[in-house]
Amino acid sequence: MPGDKSISHRYAILAALAEGRSEIRHFSTAEDCRRTLDCLQRLGVPVEIAGDCVRISGAGLGGLRAASGALDAGNSGTTMRLLAGVLSGQSFVSTLDGDASLRRRPMRRVMEPLTLMGAQIRARENQFAPLEVRGGALHSIDYTLPVPSAQVKSAILLAGLYAAGETIVHEPVPTRDHTEIALAEFGARMERSGRAIRLRGRGPESRLAARELEVPGDISSAVFFLAAALLLGDSELVLRNVGLNPTRSAVLDVLDSMGANIALVSVHGSSGELVGDIAVGHSELSGGVVEGAAIPALIDELPMLAALGPYTARGIEIRDAQELRVKESDRIAVLAENLRRMGATVEERLDGLRVAGRAAGRLRGAEINPHGDHRMAMALAIAALGADGETVIRDAECAAVSYPDFFNTLERLLKR
Ligand code: S3P
Repeated sequence: MPGDKSISHRYAILAALAEGRSEIRHFSTAEDCRRTLDCLQRLGVPVEIAGDCVRISGAGLGGLRAASGALDAGNSGTTMRLLAGVLSGQSFVSTLDGDASLRRRPMRRVMEPLTLMGAQIRARENQFAPLEVRGGALHSIDYTLPVPSAQVKSAILLAGLYAAGETIVHEPVPTRDHTEIALAEFGARMERSGRAIRLRGRGPESRLAARELEVPGDISSAVFFLAAALLLGDSELVLRNVGLNPTRSAVLDVLDSMGANIALVSVHGSSGELVGDIAVGHSELSGGVVEGAAIPALIDELPMLAALGPYTARGIEIRDAQELRVKESDRIAVLAENLRRMGATVEERLDGLRVAGRAAGRLRGAEINPHGDHRMAMALAIAALGADGETVIRDAECAAVSYPDFFNTLERLLKR
């Protein structure tokens, strides 16, 4: 699997703020992570890319320089929201922009806490990119996340590196904790207790040190191949060195509870992250309901789970996942639209959807519109493998946002 996208963004940003040269191996090949590297370079950080190995000569916390012109985050919400946090601590003004999809995504969720910390942020209609971030002397805040979002949490913690005093973030519902793990790896002064994270900011001892790190494989990319193996008869697949951080791996528990034949092998720690091999074989899935506090720990895997619905006995229902509507596309609407085109029975709800199981009939090939959303293109491609007839996915190259090699890898696996 390509290197984990979420972890790659964090390693790159922290390496840029550290002192010394970091080497990051198995860095994600995703276009999103290229955007982060590109933005860091434009802020004056030397970045060397050799295949999937990235070397970053850190500028130190005080060493970024103003970029000429807007920083382009492309399709990447993580790039925009995490960099908004970093740029809030700089003594210059920056503009963050992105593509049409990113320009529609909610930015008030980062603007509010960062403004409370002392940054001045202007946005189109006061909520959308482009964002103009006027950094300054920040002060710490004690903040409870109103939406369970790792990007918002991370923006606050990154700004917290520049704030006087102790920044405290409370998360009522746990979200992916890669930023906390990476901050500790780079030597930030941080503590976690229960659902609170405390970070000590600006001060004589606050510096980050360069590291050599290896990024685990991306479980959010792995899920497409897991699903393919589950639904195609006689399949057996082992995915090596996949990130198994418990704040990301809930999809494995859900599949297991639905009867999937999945085993974890050689599980070990790697720079604070959990990594291991996933073995999977064809299985009859019962289906069921996915809801509640588990949702943030499988938010990016929900499209694939929903698209497995027609291959399960009872169908799959997703609740409490309204956040899916503000991802790279409105994932609830786009899933409903395209699964229906393939003949599935789908009930669309405000906070999720219910996709009927096998009894509602077999899927048939159709023309699919992923609305430029990488995870839609990949999830629907896997659903199409079990359908009768040919499926055509328009603009399938959008998969490159997270997984440029997806279709080649899939083709190679299917030929075996
Ligand atoms: C991400 C967090 C999640 C996830 C996104 C990546 C991250 O978004 O959906 O793909 O790297 O922090 P939210 O923080 O908006 O929930």
